[in-house]
Amino acid sequence: MMIYKTDEQVELMRKSARLVSKTLAEVAKILKPGIDTLSIDKMIGEFIHDHKAVPSFLNYQGSYPFNSCISVNDVVVHGFPTKKELKEGDIVSVDIGVILNDWHGDHAYTFAIGDPGPEVMQLIQVTKESLYKGIEKAVAGNRVGDIGFAIWEYTEKNHGYGVVRDLVGHGLGRNMHEAPQVPNYGKRGSGSKLKEGLTLAIEPMINMGTREVFTDKDGWTVRTKDGKPSVHFEHDVCVKKGTADILSDYSIIEKVEEENENLFTMADRDAFAKASASKGIS
Ligand code: MF3
Ligand code: CO
Repeated sequence: MMIYKTDEQVELMRKSARLVSKTLAEVAKILKPGIDTLSIDKMIGEFIHDHKAVPSFLNYQGSYPFNSCISVNDVVVHGFPTKKELKEGDIVSVDIGVILNDWHGDHAYTFAIGDPGPEVMQLIQVTKESLYKGIEKAVAGNRVGDIGFAIWEYTEKNHGYGVVRDLVGHGLGRNMHEAPQVPNYGKRGSGSKLKEGLTLAIEPMINMGTREVFTDKDGWTVRTKDGKPSVHFEHDVCVKKGTADILSDYSIIEKVEEENENLFTMADRDAFAKASASKGIS
C-alpha cells in the first residue's frame, strides 16, 4: 500500500531529511586519512541525539549494530563501522537514517579520501548524476519503472557500469521502508503509477565492474563479487507535478566537501587536469 503525505507531513519529512544532510556535512568536516569509521559512527549517533532525533539504523530488524552504514571501496552498502583507519585513495559511502518527530530521513553520500584516480572519480560523478536522472522522472503521472530505467540507462547502458539488482530504493515516511520498491533498473512505463505526495528514497548503487554482489559472514556487509569499487548516493524526494521536490540537501555537504582539503572532488580533478596540461603532462 502506498502512503501519500499531506503538505504538512512533507514539511516534517523535509526536517528529517535535512537533519541527515546536516549530519553528513559534519562527517564531511572530519573525514581524513587516519580516521577510523567507528569514531565517525559515534559522532553521528551523538549529533543525531543532540538534535532531538534517534538513529533509525541502530537495531534495525532487531540486529543492525551501529548508528550508520559506512561502506568503503568494494563494500556496496550496509558496511559496519570499524576501528580500521581510512587511507588516501579510499572511497567512503556514508548512509544515515534518523527518526525526528516520528518521521524518517534516510540518505547517503560517497566521499573520496585523497585522489582515488580518474576512473573512480568518474564512477562517483556518474552515479551522482544518475541519481538526478532518476529524480527527474519522479513526477506525477510517471511510473516507478521510469525512475529505474533512467538510472540504468545512464550508468549501465551509457557507461558500462554494473547496476546492483539485489538492493533497491524505497518509499519512506513513518517507516523507513514503505511501498513501493524503487529499483535502479527497469522498463519505461512499467510499475506503480507515481502520484503527488508519494515520498521516496532513491538510491543508485553502481559498481565499477560486475553488478553481482554478495553478503559477508556478518550478515550485513554487501560487497562486489569482483572486489572492484562501488558508489552509493541517496536522496529523499517527494513526487510532485512537473518536478520532484528534493527533501534532502546535498549543497551543505558539498560546501564542506570543497573546503576539506583531505576530500577529493570533481573540482580538484579538473584543477589537477588543467595544471598537468599547462605543464605539458598528459
Ligand atoms: N539506506 C538503507 C536502506 O534503505 C539503510 C538501511 S541500513 C540498516 O535500506 F541498517 F538500517 F538496515
Ligand atoms: Co534507503
